[in-house]
Amino acid sequence: MTTGIIKINPDNFKGEELEEACHILKDGGLVAFPTETVYGLGGDALNPLAASKIYGAKGRPSDNPLIVHIACIDSLYDIAEVTEDGLKLAKAFWPGPLTLVFKKKEIVPPQTTGGLDTVAVRMPCHAVARELIKRSGIYIAAPSANLSGRPSPTQAKHVIEDLDGRIDIIIDGGSPDIGIESTIVDVSGSRAVILRPGYITKDMLKDVLCDVSTDPAIEGIVPQKDIVAKAPGMKYRHYAPKGQLLIVEGSPDRVARKINSLVSEKDTEGYKTAVIATDETKDKYKCNIIKSIGTRKSENSIAASLYNILREMDYMEVQYIYSESFGAGILGGAVMNRMLKAAAGHIIQV
Ligand code: TXA
Ligand code: MG
Repeated sequence: MTTGIIKINPDNFKGEELEEACHILKDGGLVAFPTETVYGLGGDALNPLAASKIYGAKGRPSDNPLIVHIACIDSLYDIAEVTEDGLKLAKAFWPGPLTLVFKKKEIVPPQTTGGLDTVAVRMPCHAVARELIKRSGIYIAAPSANLSGRPSPTQAKHVIEDLDGRIDIIIDGGSPDIGIESTIVDVSGSRAVILRPGYITKDMLKDVLCDVSTDPAIEGIVPQKDIVAKAPGMKYRHYAPKGQLLIVEGSPDRVARKINSLVSEKDTEGYKTAVIATDETKDKYKCNIIKSIGTRKSENSIAASLYNILREMDYMEVQYIYSESFGAGILGGAVMNRMLKAAAGHIIQV
């Protein structure tokens, strides 16, 4: 299959540029598109064959359910048993980077929900994503548009790397603002539970619902190894660069000293090494490759470049990657959740 590419400026487009992509979606094909979080790999959420194709293209285990993207709150009632908590959160944060899990309605095929009786729903705020859903007239099932196990794509180039020849069209709408996946909250039960941390934080959710808990499997900076995550996708190794990533946490000077000694050790053994630092700390390191992930003054800058930097490590074929920790701040939990998965839990304190 040849994968087509459509370039669109999200700040200035008419909508008709998306006609071909809409036809493909309605015919059961696959279209990668930009959202405010990461690029999604879309197919018709109510067409079991399209859902199956998504798993095939990504190489994703079929028990890992997809998120259904809608363009207006009314659509929620077609596919989900809407709860009071869910509606409150939807009204407060949609359109935006929040996914809500409800009991599903019959119309949603088990292929889309990985066989679960619940369905994850999100209303994105990205102009291109919204127009694509509205114009196609369907609900779009979309996981992140990466091969299973690879970092989520934050540029069309990343989607091409992973899925060229495996899907019909990629809509290139530039870089998403946020750069990490949506927060997922299960509102199907008596108490709202965060299943995946993201840009919408627990405090923001608590401003709307007094009672919000966190799935114990993702609580804390270091994930609990022996508890099974309620979002099936959270149990898989994710966001992984090809090299081995180690996070070093502690005061900036100690971290730099430790990383410099690890780098020197591996360099002597003949391996290719790299350091992930910040604008404020990058001068503390001695390594051939030192990448700044952003400034500690802007957590958003760190979240937005996280996946790109992990992919860059692969382009350069780095074998050992040493990174500072980014656990502090409001978004820290969400960023570190991804970093730790990329590092397969390898973190040391100094
Ligand atoms: O920001 C996002 O959420 C992006 C964009 C494209 O919208 N999508 C995304 O999808 O990150 P994906 O498939 O990479 O991650 C979906 C996560 C998985 O961990 C999956 O297990 C979980 O959502 N999930 C989906 N349906 C669920 C359900 N019914 N119950 C629990 N977890 C669910
Ligand atoms: Mg994903």
